Amino acid sequence: MPNISLSVNGTRHTLEVPDNLLLSGLLRDVLRLTGTHIGCDTSQCGACTVHVDGRSVKSCTMLAVQADGAEVVTIEGLADGDTLHPMQAAFRAHHGLQCGFCTPGMVMAAVAFAKANPAPSEDEVRHGLEGNICRCTGYQGIVEAVMTGARAMHAGKA
Ligand code: FES
Ligand code: FES
Repeated sequence: MPNISLSVNGTRHTLEVPDNLLLSGLLRDVLRLTGTHIGCDTSQCGACTVHVDGRSVKSCTMLAVQADGAEVVTIEGLADGDTLHPMQAAFRAHHGLQCGFCTPGMVMAAVAFAKANPAPSEDEVRHGLEGNICRCTGYQGIVEAVMTGARAMHAGKA
């Protein structure tokens, strides 16, 4: 089995992994970071979205070995201690979740989207997050949350 070394939420891990282990499996089953959800395992739903070297990635589309040397951030690494990330706070404020199953992936995708879109329109949010599905269909609250969260992330920045 290959040896890989990667950073997850700022902690470095060096471990042997099976060739066919998905990054989602590494996060959930090996590192026990179960905030990353599995809704389909076929790249459809976005529930498994994490950041790999700053980019939004559906972790079921990537092998763990492909993350060798990467910096991975999961939903568990987003808050600053007890202080929610501005996008998390916006989801709470705008009721951007119902059952919560899609929420970790939605939030991770939204943060990556908002980095490049500081003041997105509703259409831009809907287009930017089209790869993430909410089975509760709570899209209106999610879109409002992402619009607010994006502005909050960039507030005070030049
Ligand atoms: S579990 Fe990865 S996209 Fe659905
Ligand atoms: S809040 Fe239930 S799947 Fe989105």
